[in-house]
Amino acid sequence: MSNVLRLAIVDPNDTARESLKATLLGMDMVWLEAECSRYEFFTDVVRQTNPDIGFIGLDKDPERALELVERLRESAPECSVLVASQSTDGNLILRAMRAGVKEFLTQPIQIQDLVAALERINRQRHGDSDVRSSGTRVIAVAGATGGVGSTSVAVNLACDLASEERNSVVLVDLDLCLGDADVCLDAIPDYTLVDVAQNVGRLDFTLLKRSLTKHSSGLYLLPRPVQLEDTKLITPDDLRRALGLLKATFTHMIIDASKGYSELDMAAFEMATDVLLVTQLDLPCLRNVVRLMMSFGEIDGLKEKVKVIVNRVGLSNNHISLKKARETIGTDIYWQLPNDYRVMVDVRNNGVPLLEQAPKAPITQSIGMLADALTGKETATGTDESGQASTGHRWLHNIWPARSKSQ
Ligand SMILES: Nc1ncnc2c1ncn2[C@@H]1O[C@H](COP(=O)(O)OP(=O)(O)OP(=O)(O)O)[C@@H](O)[C@H]1O
Ligand SMILES: [Mg+2]
Repeated sequence: MSNVLRLAIVDPNDTARESLKATLLGMDMVWLEAECSRYEFFTDVVRQTNPDIGFIGLDKDPERALELVERLRESAPECSVLVASQSTDGNLILRAMRAGVKEFLTQPIQIQDLVAALERINRQRHGDSDVRSSGTRVIAVAGATGGVGSTSVAVNLACDLASEERNSVVLVDLDLCLGDADVCLDAIPDYTLVDVAQNVGRLDFTLLKRSLTKHSSGLYLLPRPVQLEDTKLITPDDLRRALGLLKATFTHMIIDASKGYSELDMAAFEMATDVLLVTQLDLPCLRNVVRLMMSFGEIDGLKEKVKVIVNRVGLSNNHISLKKARETIGTDIYWQLPNDYRVMVDVRNNGVPLLEQAPKAPITQSIGMLADALTGKETATGTDESGQASTGHRWLHNIWPARSKSQ
């Protein structure tokens, strides 16, 4: 991930320094450049390592620590200074701010406060749009109706992204009542979204990763709650905090949204970089796409993130054409996924991802290319006036429509 913040830390208190280090080491958004146990050496450390952020623990000697902040302001104006203290004394905070600190954190450090402070610094350094475009990719997958294939897309997209070594990917099942992402991956999780959302203030990054279930593909899964009644325990704010923490830990987060378009789903869409709206080429689905797009248009910035994915193309000769579908929904179709009933039944029954069960199948390849397009490696398909694919989509050019199958 670009825009990684390089940090140097100084704290003469070994325990506080070690605990901060343990937290930072689990975060994808930071790189620990140097650590130091003496205030008097830190200006040299910063000069030699040139970090983006200097992190100073104040409590061992606040006077000397604040002098250090002032020295850094002179000698390393490019280095943003972040300080931490157990004290919430307004006078100390004011002096720290006047000395030139960018952020003041209270110890023990709450992970979401640290993440928020780092994000603010990142934004100041790189600008809002730049951070958004190069930070963690959050892809929410929604559906125009039940059974349209959104979980299949979410799970297999996540596995495809996780197959690249440089990616770290988490899949969150937000279909709180009936979600089945765990079944698709044949996983038996110890913890669920409820555990993480309710304990978010107490989790550090190591504990967070331990609360997730790791699949053999490298993908981390955070499943829906086990008990139906537990679904009520998650508030939108809990969810925002939990997703914020995951965002700071992974390069990609895929969210399988529910079909309820609840407050929680909307909170996830708010945090998403892309919202994939999966549909099929029948009238009820396309009408829902139109209705959903109208509602999304009422929410600031949401409609622009939506990408329409047509699933199971070729399922039936009676289906509405792509051209007609595009006219009906009044928006471009971002991607088309082929119908492949046999392969999809196999992966479901075996609880394995497409990449493992049928790596060469057109549906697997198409999802792989969708992953590439979303992460900027391939141009998305559009449809030209005749409704045919207008850019290099291997599956469509080579196989479709000859390969079209029916159930
Ligand atoms: N491209 C495809 N070709 C053939 N079958 C598919 C395809 N995509 C999904 N399916 C099948 O459609 C069914 C529903 O898929 P899935 O569970 O992914 O949909 P969903 O939108 O998540 O459903 P729900 O509304 O229950 O959450 C599954 O049996 C799946 O195997
Ligand atoms: Mg589903």
